[in-house]
Amino acid sequence: MTGRAWLSILVLMVDSLSFCINEPTAENKAPRGTCSKAVDGVHCDENVVVGEPGQLELTRLDGVEEGYVTSLDIEPGRSLQLKTLSMKPLVFEIVDFLTTSESDHFIALANNIGLQTSKTHSDRANKNSFTLFDQDGNRRLSLDEMKLTIENSFDVYLDHEDIRKMYTDLDMDQDHDNEITPDEIQKTSPADMGEYLQKKMIQYPEKKSRFSEQVWLRPDFSTDEVFQHVQLRVQKLTKLPETLIKRSHVQVVKYGLKGHYNAHLDSTPLNTKVPCCTETTRWKGNCRICRYMTILFYLSDVEEGGETAFPVAGNITLDEEVLRSSGNINLFRSCHKANFKVPPKKGKAVIWYNHFINPKTDWLGEVDRFTWHGGCPVVKGEKWIANFWIRVMDTKEETEKGF
Ligand SMILES: *[C@@H]1O[C@H](CO)[C@@H](O)[C@H](O)[C@H]1NC(C)=O
Repeated sequence: MTGRAWLSILVLMVDSLSFCINEPTAENKAPRGTCSKAVDGVHCDENVVVGEPGQLELTRLDGVEEGYVTSLDIEPGRSLQLKTLSMKPLVFEIVDFLTTSESDHFIALANNIGLQTSKTHSDRANKNSFTLFDQDGNRRLSLDEMKLTIENSFDVYLDHEDIRKMYTDLDMDQDHDNEITPDEIQKTSPADMGEYLQKKMIQYPEKKSRFSEQVWLRPDFSTDEVFQHVQLRVQKLTKLPETLIKRSHVQVVKYGLKGHYNAHLDSTPLNTKVPCCTETTRWKGNCRICRYMTILFYLSDVEEGGETAFPVAGNITLDEEVLRSSGNINLFRSCHKANFKVPPKKGKAVIWYNHFINPKTDWLGEVDRFTWHGGCPVVKGEKWIANFWIRVMDTKEETEKGF
């Protein structure tokens, strides 16, 4: 036989062999977004099949009903209980998602990099203007209206006594009637008020919207093994494509005594004029933070306080104006009024969907406004968490291109 003939037989054989390997049968066709070839249940081998190439898909777990529990056999010898905590918004918890040593590892990673004071809007806001909340339209600001004005313009949460002190310190309310007229407001510039509040915040950090220290971990650059294990576990749990898991942002946050985070949304409502942030535009502004999903890990136990609160969970209707003026955004004061709270526990994961899926595009839908949430103040001890944010772009195509 000639060399050429041998070669063609070999090609034929290779062809049919690869045909055998590639053709999925009913049993071995993995559900989209799962790792089908994890030999030891943890490590995916080289040929891991994650969804179909070029087919990004957003997934959403089925909550069934509040209190519903599913057992997940994610790793050999270890089953996790996925419990539905709330249907509106859809929130789950998994106790012992992280092992003690994994939790400790995240804390050690954060400590090695070094934590920094978390920024709030009050730290970076442009202080050239404020929006006056004259709710009753009488052209004067009552103490309550000034309180809302300061909250919304400066992201600072004061009570009446603090405001009266500010009036005295800045000589704002010359007739001492606890009301600020247009004339009186004219005499105080937003910059002066901003500066005053900044100084106060150093003294009273509990009045900031957020009082914590944080550090970003970058999973895409990380070769850290524990990190990789956790990413894979998150992938198996959420059934999201590996690309999204790999590109998620991870932040470790430490809350000391009185540490808290007032209620907020983790993502931004859809807006065709402002695109989702990419890794590069993220720091420049004029882009939206687009986080499809939040996975929050408690890395420590907390002696007292430090719950994750959802102030409007399960409410029949939701009016954000009502929420703002109710004072319930201020979790430092109003945590006890929240509709639903998750107590911290080392190793526990709490997961929720910041967005719905748009059935027409099969991609990012509107923000689920019922996901307003935050961290209640730490009363005793300290609280460590890791936030795992699943980032996306506005469309599948943009997300596929990389961001
Ligand atoms: C919660 O629901 C009630 C009843 O529908 C409504 O009156 C109230 O304004 C809602 N709260 C908020 C913050 O929207």
